[in-house]
Amino acid sequence: MELLPWVSILAAVVLATALMLVTTVLNRRSKLNKYKLPPGPRPWPVIGNLNLIGPLPQHSLHKLSAQYGPLMSLRFGFVPVVVGSSVDAARSILKTNDLAFIDRPRTAAGKYTSYNIHHAVVAVRRLLAPGEEAVADRAAQHEAAQAVRAGASRGGERDAARPARRGIVYRSCGGAERPPDDGQPQQKVLDEHNERRQREGEAFVARDMVDKLLQLADDPNLKVPITRDGVKAFTLELFAAGTDTSAATVEWAMTELVKKPAVLTKATEELDRVVGRNRLVAEGDIPNLPYFDAIVKETMRTHPVAPLLTPRQSREDTSIDGYDIPAGTRVLINIMAICRDPKVWDAPMEFRPERFIGSSVDVRGQDLELLPFGSGRRMCPGHTLGLKMVQVTLANLLHAFHWKLPDGMVAEELSMEEVFRMNVLRKVPLEAVAEPKLPAHLYAGP
Ligand code: HEM
Repeated sequence: MELLPWVSILAAVVLATALMLVTTVLNRRSKLNKYKLPPGPRPWPVIGNLNLIGPLPQHSLHKLSAQYGPLMSLRFGFVPVVVGSSVDAARSILKTNDLAFIDRPRTAAGKYTSYNIHHAVVAVRRLLAPGEEAVADRAAQHEAAQAVRAGASRGGERDAARPARRGIVYRSCGGAERPPDDGQPQQKVLDEHNERRQREGEAFVARDMVDKLLQLADDPNLKVPITRDGVKAFTLELFAAGTDTSAATVEWAMTELVKKPAVLTKATEELDRVVGRNRLVAEGDIPNLPYFDAIVKETMRTHPVAPLLTPRQSREDTSIDGYDIPAGTRVLINIMAICRDPKVWDAPMEFRPERFIGSSVDVRGQDLELLPFGSGRRMCPGHTLGLKMVQVTLANLLHAFHWKLPDGMVAEELSMEEVFRMNVLRKVPLEAVAEPKLPAHLYAGP
């Protein structure tokens, strides 16, 4: 008998909660009903359409867009989402209505920096501003030399391509040999940089990104100041933003090339002709290597490492092609779908660098059919450095070694499986054998 009042109270609470949930859902629905949303699959309560998204979301969304169209509406849990999967949709979101889609949802900040996305963007822009190219150039060159040295030390082994996978950008950020596992090595790197600054006083010249960041931290005119702690967090974050993207692109390029010896031979013949066998490839050689340049573009087309760009969020109600996109909608652009669109690309599933010979299509955000770095105001601020890293490292790996698949492995057996972490990486690291082919002193390093 004494339990009864508690049972009634519990029942009342459950009923009130259920009523509240129903009212919220109905309210949300009636608000959304006033909009004409782009077509899309019917969402389930609570999970929305998450049941349709597999471990490789770019592929799930590509398939769905074939059914619902290039501007598609979904729900991820309670979050309304719109996905653009065509050149026209990309133009509407990134160019025509760019201001309406300039915000990032809060959760996206973690992709590039847990510290502060605003700092990340401001600092990368300052670091890579016109006139500041020397640091990036030196970083790219240094990194390439590192990869060549590491490749030589593993010459003849199956995993010679592995050094290309990680550590590519780290030297440009911090000057240490290995990526940091936690804040400790990073502190040591900062201490070393500070010591040199103090030792050299007036004569000090910034040599890498940490030097530049420490200079920025001292700048009293910076609108959003960077603290010393910020520099530490930030070098870690830059490492994350830059490393995986550049290294993954190099690894995908190497994969395609060891699978296609004819393309590899054409690239190495061009390198021999332009660079010769007595030196490594310098950044200044890249404009004279059109076939190699086409390989980099074709790699970024066939394996965009950030296939959905970084999510945007609409800041106001916007209308595209007669459909409404309400304020607060998460907006994705599936550049992988665009790169595989047969209306845009001839034989899109084939790796064929020749398609870029004599073509003016570039990767720097102007040509909407090829957007590995995004486009518009939220385009990757590190794209010049990222591109340089990929070009100089890949060119040197190709120039310095004969590459082949391990004995007993045939091209058809090479796994092309992807895994979606923050970026799209090879599921299993590439295994390839490298035989040095340049004079021995070139592998010795600086
Ligand atoms: C091959 C190398 C790289 C690729 C493919 C790449 C790709 C991208 C893409 C697709 C975005 C989103 C753009 C958009 O939503 O329109 C992005 C954003 C960003 N990237 Fe990169 N990136 C690379 C290298 C780098 C490097 C080297 C740095 C830093 C030094 C960097 C720092 C950033 C930052 C801070 C953002 C956020 C920008 C914002 O939210 O406004 N990236 N990157």
